[in-house]
Amino acid sequence: MTAAPVTFMEQGRCKRLKAASSRDHDSVDQLVMAARPFQDRERYGRFLQVQYRFHGSLLALYQDEQLNRRLPGLVELSRFAAVEADLRDLGLPLPPRPHPVCASPTQALGWLYCSEGSNLGAAFLFKHTQRLGLDGDLGARHLAPPPSGRALQWREFVATLDSVVLDEQEEAEVVAGAIAAFDSYRAHLRAVFAEG
Ligand code: HEM
Repeated sequence: MTAAPVTFMEQGRCKRLKAASSRDHDSVDQLVMAARPFQDRERYGRFLQVQYRFHGSLLALYQDEQLNRRLPGLVELSRFAAVEADLRDLGLPLPPRPHPVCASPTQALGWLYCSEGSNLGAAFLFKHTQRLGLDGDLGARHLAPPPSGRALQWREFVATLDSVVLDEQEEAEVVAGAIAAFDSYRAHLRAVFAEG
């Protein structure tokens, strides 16, 4: 007997989000590397500004009560405080707090997918910071693996996000949220690295 093919909607939500945003991911990945953020500490400091803007703009979502009911433990996952500590480690001033992103509660799920997924690629970035003499206790705290490990934390997040019940319209909003998150990351990256 041959197994029935898995239809698009039977795949988990995160699998669908990955498929819908893979081109955005690849372009962001390429832009990050083209910015040479690990060339020296000055450029890494700029990369921290990008992370500060992105994770700072998502802080209100991580702290949102309704979202924490949907995704228990969400508030613990924000990496913004670690980015702030990294800036302090490097002796860099903390910029003003970024404005919170504008997202509906359902779009927010897509933004959070993007932000949490970025913790997987962070393994690669974390290795590069070691060449700059940085690590999880100095300057690269926000890229260090979480205590439970990247893979387990991600699997738990995926399981929780996949289990949220949504209608078709809301599914589309989650995808729109994820794409908007990648767009915003790209915009922060371009803005910070274009500055003199
Ligand atoms: C040079 C920069 C980056 C590299 C090299 C990189 C690399 C990776 C790698 C290797 C994975 C794991 C793929 C897998 O296990 O299937 C991943 C996953 C992911 N990354 Fe990145 N990444 C980078 C930057 C980013 C950024 C800046 C974001 C978001 C703003 C991001 C969002 C994601 C997401 C959402 C996933 C999860 C994909 C899934 O659903 O499995 N990545 N990345």
